[in-house]
Amino acid sequence: MSFPKNFLWGGATAANQCEGAWNVDGKGPSISDHNRAGSRTSGTRRTFDLEIDDQYYYPSHTAIDSYHRYKEDIALFAEMGFKVYRLSIAWTRIFPNGDETTPNEAGLQYYDDLFDELHKYGIEPLVTISHFELPFHLGKEYDGFLDKRTIGFYERYATTLFERYKDKVKYWLTFNEINFGTLDHGRRINGLFNREYTESEQYQALHNVFLASAKAVIAGHKINPDFQIGCMLAYITMYPKTCRPADVLKTQQMNDRLNYFCGDVQVKGAYPYYMKRYFEQNDIQVEITEEDKALLKAGTVDYYTFSYYMSTCIADNLEDRDDKSGGNLFGGVSNEYLETSDWGWQIDPIGLRYTLNQIYSRYEVPLMVVENGLGAFDKVEEDGSIKDDYRIDYFKQHIIEMGNAIDDGVDLIGYTPWGCIDLISAGTGEMSKRYGFIYVDRDDEGNGTLDRSRKDSFYWYKDVIASNGEKL
Ligand code: BG6
Repeated sequence: MSFPKNFLWGGATAANQCEGAWNVDGKGPSISDHNRAGSRTSGTRRTFDLEIDDQYYYPSHTAIDSYHRYKEDIALFAEMGFKVYRLSIAWTRIFPNGDETTPNEAGLQYYDDLFDELHKYGIEPLVTISHFELPFHLGKEYDGFLDKRTIGFYERYATTLFERYKDKVKYWLTFNEINFGTLDHGRRINGLFNREYTESEQYQALHNVFLASAKAVIAGHKINPDFQIGCMLAYITMYPKTCRPADVLKTQQMNDRLNYFCGDVQVKGAYPYYMKRYFEQNDIQVEITEEDKALLKAGTVDYYTFSYYMSTCIADNLEDRDDKSGGNLFGGVSNEYLETSDWGWQIDPIGLRYTLNQIYSRYEVPLMVVENGLGAFDKVEEDGSIKDDYRIDYFKQHIIEMGNAIDDGVDLIGYTPWGCIDLISAGTGEMSKRYGFIYVDRDDEGNGTLDRSRKDSFYWYKDVIASNGEKL
């Protein structure tokens, strides 16, 4: 098994899940700042409040306070030997409402300092421009990306980042998990929360997100031709529940629409043929002009990245089944050959090799796995240690399969496990759903010292990186 010499080992986070300091130094509220905590284990969903109400706990407001502790965190990443660190920039630190014409200097300076700190240790930043952090104001006043003006606001924001950090950041991602844009929680990408929206409106907003991404790619390449600007999708690997042709066909249709569609637009630069049929059958109207088509063609991405946590099964009668499985915003039916995490996500390392081959054979551009990991309960022992062998085992199996995919011929250039430091869950707002190599002392209600400590997986991952994936 052979990882290339310059393979980018690292970890990933997002501003709204780790920074905290939600209203500090001029930052405005993002959509995520309006999300209360829920609990997936007890079945309560997160509540989205139009008005922030002080009697409730909003996890993103303090999160793990990395806004103030980033130096300590980066030193720990460096100790593990990270080559790359994926983070997102909070849009509302740069443009607090989203529609200003002048950026907030304090916000820009914060990320300048953070990038300098990374470079001090030779860690390459990988920046997600929009990771569930759309300014709340853009949703409230403009209906987010349903309004074409938001494309311009995003372009201004992205261009501001490209110009400011053109010598500090090379790797960019335009939108996190863009393919969730029309599903539950899509509001954090497209800003649709004022009312119920038709499917046509949801797809129109997603179309405008595609245009914004394409504009950013074009602008970024003009500012620095060396920029690598990628797309990012949530890949939910789907298998037919049985070999019944109807199950296989349904799997293909769902896979096309949920996994392939956005990548086809962003990598190939055009709407795929199968969406035309879906739009017709569901009476969905999306306005796509000739100018839009040219823009999508000109603004294709340089590389493809995705999150991979699990796989699921699809059956023809999916909606009526009572053997549904849990999932990362979307779950199908259960697979009796797989174990599940504490949150019901089906663990499938071989599925990662299969997925890497599926994606690479379709696009033949460099790939990066920018999220992968096990959300689990951790126990702190009396001596302060955290024996997370279940997490080590999860990573070990997935890394073996990434190595196999590389041997298959897939051009995989990097790996940034999710939540390399414990942070708040996007799905539930819980802290107890921990992903990190680094433990953070904080609970689901916001109590704790916020102190950091190394889990057993920390030392293990350090060895993995030092041996370039040989010592597992
Ligand atoms: C992805 C997101 O959906 O999965 C992350 O990009 C998120 O923001 C991660 O945290 C894991 O999901 P969760 O719900 O366990 O936090």
